[in-house]
Amino acid sequence: MSSTDLTALETELAAGIAAAGTLDDLDRVRVAALGKKGRIPELMQTLGKMAPDERKNFGQAVNTVKARITDAIEARKAVLEEAALEARLATERADITLPVRPGPESEGRIHPVSQVMDELAEIFADMGFSVAEGPDIETDDYNFTKLNIPPEHPSRQDHDTFYFSPNEKGERMVLRTHTSPVQIRTMLNQKPPIRIIAPGRVYRCDSDQTHTPMFHQIEALVIDETTHMGHLKWTLEEMCKAFFEVDEVKMRFRSSYFPFTEPSAEIDIAADAIGKPGKWLEIGGCGMVHPKVLENCGIDPTRYQGYAFGMGIDRMAMLKYGLTDLRAFFNADMRWLKHYGFSLLDVPTLAGGLSS
Ligand code: PHE
Repeated sequence: MSSTDLTALETELAAGIAAAGTLDDLDRVRVAALGKKGRIPELMQTLGKMAPDERKNFGQAVNTVKARITDAIEARKAVLEEAALEARLATERADITLPVRPGPESEGRIHPVSQVMDELAEIFADMGFSVAEGPDIETDDYNFTKLNIPPEHPSRQDHDTFYFSPNEKGERMVLRTHTSPVQIRTMLNQKPPIRIIAPGRVYRCDSDQTHTPMFHQIEALVIDETTHMGHLKWTLEEMCKAFFEVDEVKMRFRSSYFPFTEPSAEIDIAADAIGKPGKWLEIGGCGMVHPKVLENCGIDPTRYQGYAFGMGIDRMAMLKYGLTDLRAFFNADMRWLKHYGFSLLDVPTLAGGLSS
């Protein structure tokens, strides 16, 4: 092959590259030019039959052409890829100014209880708590005994427990009567320092205007070497301020009794902030974790201490959003849910305002 032929070949290949309108076309051109049986490798094979001098010159010429063709293909490829991306972006363009399409996303509502759970999780996450969970069907041991409520303890009566039938070993499972067994599960599985919240369903055999057999609590547990009652009160105060979105909340701690905390207190908040001046509202129980409970979970009570509290989530939702009848929460009445529920897009954040 002469050098004129080589020039003609290059012109031909370059024209093919320029004409390739898609990445697939270009790939076909590349295989035809540079592939194993392509035009350039074909030329290379003819080198063997040439005289040494001629081989050297022609070889160099072919290599130069090969390099230019390779570059041309790369350049064309970049252009075609860019065009393909532009075309794809043009078809996938989303008009973000359009309203949400009618359908499940705009029809559906987040239940106030779920919304409040998300709000509380957001507040506690900001304070460095993580979320722990436990099952609704709990052992008698975790729901009571390890929480320093032995069998025959009078406070078991207060709980109106739903019991399952005993198994062959005589053990009964229960529907958990509070979220406190999550304290036990956490301490058995985790070494201090511990800082968790545990929202969830709880069950008590009780039903009237302010009680339903299933309701919701949020538990908190903090264990380390120095946490004391002052931290507990501060945390609760900060939580209430953030939750009710007010600058000040008056709180009252009424001395109380729980077998799993010592000392124990009930938490009241002044209802002024929510439009009921002069009234106190009870939102939950709290205290310093009882040394026996720490011991039951293999934590040394001479070294570690901390607090726990449990609050009624439904109560908190009623207070914040002015809902009066607890039973309506669980009637699955679509009109109620449409009115009191939250949009799927209203995700609570501290920065954006919890209930914007
Ligand atoms: N578990 C208690 C209840 O349901 C509340 C509580 C939790 C009290 C943690 C003290 C500490 O009434």
